Amino acid sequence: MPQMPEWKHNRRILLGISGGIAAYKLPYLLRKITKAKCEAEVIMTSSAKNFVAPMTLETLSGRKIWTDDNFDAAIPHIRLTDWAEVFVIAPCTANTLAKIAQGIADNLLTSAALAASCPVLVFPAMNERMYSNPAVQENIAILKRRGIFVADPEDGDLACGVSGKGRMPEPEEIMHEIFRALCVHDMNGKHVLVTAGPTHEYIDPVRYISNPSSGKMGFAMARSAWYRGAEVRVISGPVEAYSFCDGLKVEGVTTAVEMLEAVRKNLDWADYVVKAAAVGDYRVKDYSAHKLKREGSDELTLSLVQNPDIAAEAGKLKHDGQVLIGFAAETDDVVLHAREKLARKNLDYILANDVLAEGSGFRTDTNTLHLISSSGTQSFSGLKEDIAFDVWSAVLAG
Ligand SMILES: Cc1cc2nc3c(=O)[nH]c(=O)nc-3n(C[C@H](O)[C@H](O)[C@H](O)COP(=O)(O)O)c2cc1C
Repeated sequence: MPQMPEWKHNRRILLGISGGIAAYKLPYLLRKITKAKCEAEVIMTSSAKNFVAPMTLETLSGRKIWTDDNFDAAIPHIRLTDWAEVFVIAPCTANTLAKIAQGIADNLLTSAALAASCPVLVFPAMNERMYSNPAVQENIAILKRRGIFVADPEDGDLACGVSGKGRMPEPEEIMHEIFRALCVHDMNGKHVLVTAGPTHEYIDPVRYISNPSSGKMGFAMARSAWYRGAEVRVISGPVEAYSFCDGLKVEGVTTAVEMLEAVRKNLDWADYVVKAAAVGDYRVKDYSAHKLKREGSDELTLSLVQNPDIAAEAGKLKHDGQVLIGFAAETDDVVLHAREKLARKNLDYILANDVLAEGSGFRTDTNTLHLISSSGTQSFSGLKEDIAFDVWSAVLAG
């Protein structure tokens, strides 16, 4: 079994916090960073200390917090930016944004921004009118022109009591951007189409046939490709939104027939197609437009008809150079059945998944997968997140 990559762990992240109300989210972000086993150094502006207590951040990071009135090391802005693999400024106030755009270095945070040679990720957060002010927009354009990543704030309720564009993204979303910045971009320019989640085959308006797929494995494959620089579209059956990230273009579908339609529309576009959805093999022959009543006979017999085989359809329509990766959820003779599907459906790879194995299959965060191709079999075990990264490495290596 190959060693799992630890690319997300032990990374060195410099956090710059300026004085916006969204600074209240920073302890959560810091917690996520340390949970990912990464190290964080924190620089705060003087006004940021009004919004979040340095002691909270110090406790969570396990390190002293760098402020303008609290640094004992010489030239800390150079030392910290030499150390950092990524510099995240969140929240970034209109004031700090303007200073960075103009090259003003009148505090530790803005000096570090000038000194940084690692990727810099800026997360502006402010009132909607401030954000849409031409001065702010021009400063954002300046930073973008210099290759600095500036996140689009979210639309929603703002602390000042109005609703609009200006919210800092949630810590989870910031983590996705951090991982993307830290990841090798060996899929730049590639188009990846992923199907994920279950399908729901409705019997009547309130009942359906489905399976326990959570979409976790499919979304892990999607995020991993996006971290590596690919453009990613996901056709997803009904799943909880926790797996999404803003970088993925997600189209929701319900049934196998809808999923096939969506896949057909995107097939030509894709360099890689990952068929991770657990598509129902059957749907009811006669859908009842009204809720079926319990009265009458003790038994209810449903006639089922076969759904289209989306992976086989993709195999038929496959274009030159396109790589098709299927999944096979099996309960017995896992590798044998998967090999048979690989050939029958004209796939390049199939990931065989023993859904009955401990810590494997539906809903779990972990999995054991066997990547099968004409050149052999490789096995992966661990967190779905990590497996996804390793599977892509294996596929890219050919
Ligand atoms: C209660 C309060 C909330 C504020 N929230 C924001 C904000 O969300 N975004 C912003 O750009 N400025 C906000 N400001 C203004 C900044 O705190 C101010 O421009 C400050 O000088 C920023 O300093 P810094 O950029 O050095 O941290 C707020 C000010 C106050 C008093």
